Parts: sequence; structure tokens; C-alpha cells
Amino acid sequence: MKKKNKIPNHIAIIMDGNGRWAKKRNLPRIFGHKEGAKSVREITQACVKLGVRYLTLYAFSTENWKRPKNEIKFLMRLLKEYLNNERKTLIKNNIRFKVIGNRNKLARDIIKKIEETEELTQKNTSLTLIIALNYGSRDEIINAVNEIIKDIKNGKLVKEKISENIFKNYLYTKDIPDPDLLIRTSGEMRISNFLLWQIAYTELYVTKTLWPDFKAKDLMKAIYEFNKRERRFGGI
Ligand code: FPP
Repeated sequence: MKKKNKIPNHIAIIMDGNGRWAKKRNLPRIFGHKEGAKSVREITQACVKLGVRYLTLYAFSTENWKRPKNEIKFLMRLLKEYLNNERKTLIKNNIRFKVIGNRNKLARDIIKKIEETEELTQKNTSLTLIIALNYGSRDEIINAVNEIIKDIKNGKLVKEKISENIFKNYLYTKDIPDPDLLIRTSGEMRISNFLLWQIAYTELYVTKTLWPDFKAKDLMKAIYEFNKRERRFGGI
């Protein structure tokens, strides 16, 4: 990629198409997820190398609980394995790890592993890797509204002071800048309840490539396309 290509500060990805990847090979859907976890590793490494500062990956939505029990169980196992096996690599690569989403519905052992990994990597300074887990943007916004009501009741916040800047501090992403580029794999043209507030001025890039096939060269292509866009943020 040419040197003058600007690297987005924050890339968010809707990792879609694992099931279709498996179906094309006459394999059960879970094989697609397993292969998708390999793309997670490759794209994370590529972001570190390119100097991307934030990478947010949509791993499990608040709606994904509607999937068959076996698939949910497998996805949770995959996440646990990821947390067990990747911790060393995260530390070695100076990556800060964070999870956004509603933790209430997650199993105790997964919550514990998430908290440990967040703590162990909190001072790391290269990429911040954010996994959206049991994440839904509407749920995040409702949660923010409830927290705001609580703070008004206990005197920490005056209702006349609510502004965009105050509101965003109540979202799961409070310390994270808005994404510059949102990538969705597998060709679907929708947002699926992902970062609705945060993507107000984000550039969207949809590719037909299925997530397990999405590798470093595909990320480069997305960044190249991003560089062709003229971002005006509502100005002229
Ligand atoms: C969407 O494909 C993918 C998911 C809902 C799960 C994403 C999970 C991973 C990539 C693996 C593990 C993640 C980490 C962070 C280790 P789909 O199943 O909706 O595919 P389809 O639309 O083709 O059916």
C-alpha cells in the first residue's frame, strides 16, 4: 500500500458470513466460526502493524441468543479458548483488550477471564482491541438513559447540562473515539444494531468476502477505498 494512505484511527468490523462459508463447504456452521477466529487473529496483527489505534469487532449481538443452543454454546467456548490462548500474544504485542456489551447474561467464568485480560493489558499502548459481546446499540442507549436518570436522582448530574458530550460518556464506548471506518463482510447492507450513536460520521465499506476469507490484503483494500472518500462531517 502507498505510504500516503491515511490509516484510520478506529476501524470497526461486522464479521459476517461464517455460516455461509461453512455451508459452501458442506460443513456445520460452527466450522465457519472456528475459521472466523483465525481471521480475528490475522486482522488484529495487521492492525498492529499498520498502526491502527482502535479495532472493534462485533462478536456476539444481543439478538444472537435466538440462535440454536449448540451454536451459542460453541461461540462461547470459542471465546473462552480465545481468551485463554491469546492473552500471551496480546501482552507480547502491547495490545490493550476491552469488551463492550451487557455482561449480565454472560457465564461467570467468561466474565472472570474478560476482567483478568482487561486488567492485565490495561496499560498497553499499541492497538486497543475491543470485542463487542452481548452487545446491542439500542440496549447500550437504554442503559445510558437509565444511568443518566440515576445520576440526576443522586445529584451527580443536572438535567439541563445533558449534551452530546455528556451523553456519550454514558455509553459502553465512553473512552473510545468514534470509528472512522466500518467494514461489513459478506455483502449484507445493514448495520444490525451496531454502534448506532458512534457511526454518525463513519465511512461504510461493505465487501462480499465472507469473514473467514477476510485477510490482511482485504483490510488493505478497505483502507485504500477509505482513502478515496472525502470526509466533510456535515460541512462543505
Ligand atoms: C456472523 O456470521 C458471525 C458471528 C455472529 C460470530 C462472530 C464470531 C467469530 C468471528 C468467532 C470468534 C470471535 C472471537 C473474537 C474469537 P454468521 O454466523 O451470521 O454467518 P451467516 O450470515 O453466513 O450465517
